[in-house]
Amino acid sequence: EAAAPAAEEAPVYTYADMTLCYPQLGAESDWRTANTASIKQTAEELGVTLIFSDAQQKQENQISAVRACIEQGVDVIALPPVVEDGWDAVLTEAQDAGIPVIIVDRSVSADSSLYAAHIGSDMFLEGQRAAEEMNKLLPDGGNILELSGTVGSGAATGRAEGFRDALNDNITILDSQTGNFTRAEAIPVMEAFLKKYAGQVDGVFIHNDDMAIGAIEAIKAAGIEPGDLKIVSVDGTRGGFQAMIDGWIQADVECNPLLGPQVMEMGLKLMNGEAVDPETLTNETVYYPEEAEELLPTRQY
Ligand code: AHR
Repeated sequence: EAAAPAAEEAPVYTYADMTLCYPQLGAESDWRTANTASIKQTAEELGVTLIFSDAQQKQENQISAVRACIEQGVDVIALPPVVEDGWDAVLTEAQDAGIPVIIVDRSVSADSSLYAAHIGSDMFLEGQRAAEEMNKLLPDGGNILELSGTVGSGAATGRAEGFRDALNDNITILDSQTGNFTRAEAIPVMEAFLKKYAGQVDGVFIHNDDMAIGAIEAIKAAGIEPGDLKIVSVDGTRGGFQAMIDGWIQADVECNPLLGPQVMEMGLKLMNGEAVDPETLTNETVYYPEEAEELLPTRQY
C-alpha cells in the first residue's frame, strides 16, 4: 500500500538565508561603535549577510539607505533611527515591499502598525534613574545643568522627560543645551555653561558618557576639582567607568548597546513568519564609582 504523501512543510529559513540591512545612524560615540561591532560580529558568527551603512547622524542619509535596501530586496531591515519623527513614508514603502522592519535602540513616533517590533532601552526609565541619582547626590537641593543628546532623538527626549519626572522639587535645572551625543560638541557647550553660571552650579546631568568626557575637559580647564560638580551620566562605557574611577562621574546609568544577538534572532523569526514581541526592552542597571575599578577590566565597551 502506498504511503500517504507527506504534508507540505512551510519553508524554514536559517541564518545563512538571511540578508539583514542595518542603516546605522552614525559613529558619534563609544556606545555607537560598540553597537556597530555587536551587529557586525553577530552577523559574521551566524553567517547572516549584512548590508551596513553609516548615515553620519543625518536622517536623509538613513532614509536613502533604507530605500536602497528595499530596492535590493533584503529580507529584514533593522533601523536605529537618529530622530523620532519623519519615518512614516519610508516605513510604508518597506511594508508595501513586504520587508519587515525592526526598530532598534531609539524609538520612532510612527504608528506601530508600520513596523514589526522595537528592541532597545527604556530611555524614560534611564532619565528617571539619573534623576534618582541626582536627588541622592544633592539631598538639600541645588542648581544643575543638562547636556542633552541629539535634538529630536528618542534617547534625548525620553531621558529629558524621565529626568524631569523623577527630579526632586528642590533641584532647579538652570539650563539645557544639546551636545549632539559627541565629545567635540560637548566641550564648547560646557565652557559656555561654566562662564554663564560661574559659582551657581552644583551638578550636571549629561545624556551620554562621550559628552561627559568632553564636558570634563572643560570643567578641568576651568580649575574645578573632581566631585565639586556632581555628574550623572548615561551609557556605562569604559570611558565612563574611567571617569568614575578618576572621581568625575558619581553615577552612570547603563544603556546597553550589545543588541546584535537579539536583532538577528528576531529577524530570523520574522523571515519564518513567527510571532515576535512588539516591544523588547533591555534589562539595565546603574553603576557607581565604588565598583568601577573592579568591573572595568571586563567591560565589553
Ligand atoms: O541611543 C543611544 C544613545 O546614542 C547612547 O546613549 C549614546 O551614547 C548614543 O550616541
